[in-house]
Amino acid sequence: MLVLGLESSCDETGVALYDTEHGLLSHALHSQVAMHADFGGVVPELASRDHIQRALPLTEQVLKAANKTLQDIDGIAYTQGPGLAGALLVGTSIAQSLAFSLKIPSIGVHHLEGHLLAPLLEENPPEFPFVALLVSGGHSQLMRVDGIGQYQLLGDTLDDAAGEAFDKTAKLLGLGYPGGPALAKIALQGKARFTLPRPMLHSKDLNFSFSGLKTAVLTLVNKTKPLDTQAQADIAWEFQEAVTEILTAKCMTALRETGLDNLIVSGGVGANTRLRERLNQATKRKLCKVSYPRLEFCTDNGAMIAFAGAQRLKAMQIEAQDYRFGVRPRWDLAELMTP
Ligand code: KG4
Ligand code: ZN
Repeated sequence: MLVLGLESSCDETGVALYDTEHGLLSHALHSQVAMHADFGGVVPELASRDHIQRALPLTEQVLKAANKTLQDIDGIAYTQGPGLAGALLVGTSIAQSLAFSLKIPSIGVHHLEGHLLAPLLEENPPEFPFVALLVSGGHSQLMRVDGIGQYQLLGDTLDDAAGEAFDKTAKLLGLGYPGGPALAKIALQGKARFTLPRPMLHSKDLNFSFSGLKTAVLTLVNKTKPLDTQAQADIAWEFQEAVTEILTAKCMTALRETGLDNLIVSGGVGANTRLRERLNQATKRKLCKVSYPRLEFCTDNGAMIAFAGAQRLKAMQIEAQDYRFGVRPRWDLAELMTP
């Protein structure tokens, strides 16, 4: 089954072709980072307009790269939510119109399910069940995953998501947007000089809280004089140490509590080198496995949507196809979970 996947929930237009027998055939991405950089964050209206410009040329590009035509496609997967309403509407309307005209099934994919299953796109994919750490700009969750649609929430953030904490801290340090990669880059020049708290590190649960850490950075930034490049790098270094220590500790607790020996990490923060270093060490020590998506599939992309959609389309008995443009800007992953 050949599935076209379309991602347009935020500031990246991603398109991919996934074949259930032959794997990922092609994928293409346009990032709007440069366009939003001047505004210090995503401008929703600009994002929607740009998705309109990019979606069809990227679709043609992936078809050509895989030597396929529209008529070869058996199903279409699109990000239905959560995300920016206007941006979601672009991908949804294109996907539904194409599916309607080609008389093929379509499926609205939950963006986080896409992230969650992204490590399965790699060679020697992890086997169910596993513990998943999903750390993106909007979410920080630990889940037990027993199969497609079988997700059990183990822990969540009480306030900011990990990526959001990276972005806000980068802003406080006067670094560019998006903050995560910029902060990780400058942290390479940093060293141990300051001390920041590790909120919830020793809490008995698997929840996170990052807003106190951000406030501690603000206090530190205000009292550090001069706030030169070295001081920025040292604060970034300590911040990254704090976040990655907390994330690693919680992952190891989740593995211990579930009795599982398999961890997967996904979402934009999963691209962080220091996080990967710590998780590799910690899992090795406990004889557990850890898997990540390739770097480009940690952040938003079409491949993860094509993959998640293909798994669902394969398992579905489609009787009456719904081609309405129903986006879900707010959509709790819990609604997907099968009892
Ligand atoms: O998964 P994603 O592309 O979008 C959401 O669904 O949110 O994640 C984007 C987030 C941003 O907050 C970005 O700053 C963060 O992931 N990020 C990183 C790194 N690369 C992206 N954070 C830390 N280190 C990185 N290398
Ligand atoms: Zn995402």
